[in-house]
Parts: sequence; structure tokens; C-alpha cells
Amino acid sequence: MIRPANLSDLDALVQLEARCFDTDRVSRRSFHYLLTRGHAMLLVDEERNGLRGYALIRFQARSTRARLYSIAIDHGHRSQGIGRALLAATEDTARKHGASSMRLEIRKDNHVAARLYEKMGYQRFGAYLDYYADHMDALRMEKSLVPHSHAAITGNATPPAHRVT
Ligand SMILES: CC(C)(COP(=O)(O)OP(=O)(O)OC[C@H]1O[C@@H](n2cnc3c(N)ncnc32)[C@H](O)[C@@H]1OP(=O)(O)O)[C@@H](O)C(=O)NCCC(=O)NCCS
Repeated sequence: MIRPANLSDLDALVQLEARCFDTDRVSRRSFHYLLTRGHAMLLVDEERNGLRGYALIRFQARSTRARLYSIAIDHGHRSQGIGRALLAATEDTARKHGASSMRLEIRKDNHVAARLYEKMGYQRFGAYLDYYADHMDALRMEKSLVPHSHAAITGNATPPAHRVT
């Protein structure tokens, strides 16, 4: 079941993050901030035994552009369609918040996530060099959330302050 996260999910989110990422993890403090004051939306996929995954989007002030900040599915639950379902749910949530597009960054070597994003209609439009803690480049991707929109994709020169996906 996909539902909005709340503070009672904090421990499980931190543990999931530690299992899913070796570097550039979202800290407990950041999760807490994002859940309470972060102008963000965090969705979790939960089953009886706990969380199977989460997706986190952030909204920007005075912008209709949302940002997929992170998405992760726990090891035993990958390749079962959960990532795709969570991403679709975050897009719906972003639309309901008035977002007209979603952007994300992805490690250049993360081919599995790249396939997910491409299948979901995201297109590459640029890169940030030396973006992650281990100096890996980030590819930038964007998807319009508005049907039949032909809005041009234009890059910002300044990388976002935090890691994303
Ligand atoms: C990337 C991630 C979120 C995908 O979630 P998932 O639940 O495994 O993905 P899904 O089962 O919904 O699959 C969606 C698409 O992803 C791709 N994919 C999924 N698993 C794959 C695999 N093992 N190999 C290649 N492509 C794969 C496929 O294109 C798939 O579509 P298809 O089933 O139509 O072929 C998950 O692998 C993950 O959490 N990885 C670690 C954290 C991470 O890298 N997050 C993203 C960047 S921060």
C-alpha cells in the first residue's frame, strides 16, 4: 500500500536508506526536516512486515517544477513494479500540488534507475559534473506532468544543494 509518510516512519526510513545507498544518504535529520517543514512530500510503500520503499519529492517556492529527491526500494522487493508504482504516485501527488514538471538527477552509473525513468517518460537534458560525494557525475532528467505539453526544457547552471537520486 502506498501512503504518505509520517514521523512514525522515521526509524524505518533511516534503516532503508542505509541499506539502499552507500554514499550521499539522506540523514535522519534531513528526513525529519523534510517530513515536518521541508516543503516536500514523502510517500512510502508499506506491507505487513514494514516499508518496502519510499519516494521523496520537493517543491520549489514560486515554481511549478517539482524535484524527485530520492527513491529507493528495499533489496528483496526490487524488480516487482514497486518503484514504478511509487514514481507514478509521486507524479500524481506533484500534479495535485500544481507541479507541471518533475526533474531529477541520477548517478551516471545507475543504469537500473535510468531504465525506470526512461520507461516512465523522463528525458535527459544535461549533466552536473563531479556531483556526488565520490565524484560521480549526475545526469539530469525531466518529465512534463501536463498532458500534451511541449514546454521547452531549459537547464539551470547551478546544481541543487543536495544530492538527489
Ligand atoms: C531504481 C529502483 C528504485 C527501481 O525500483 P524497482 O521497484 O526495482 O523497479 P520496478 O520493478 O518498478 O521496475 C521499473 C523498471 O526499472 C527497470 N528495472 C528494474 N529492475 C531492473 C533490473 N534488475 N535490471 C534492469 N532494469 C531494471 C526496468 O526498466 C523496469 O521496467 P520493466 O519491468 O518494464 O522492464 C530500485 O532498483 C532501487 O531502489 N535501487 C537502489 C536505489 C536507487 O538507485 N534509487 C534511484 C536513484 S536514487
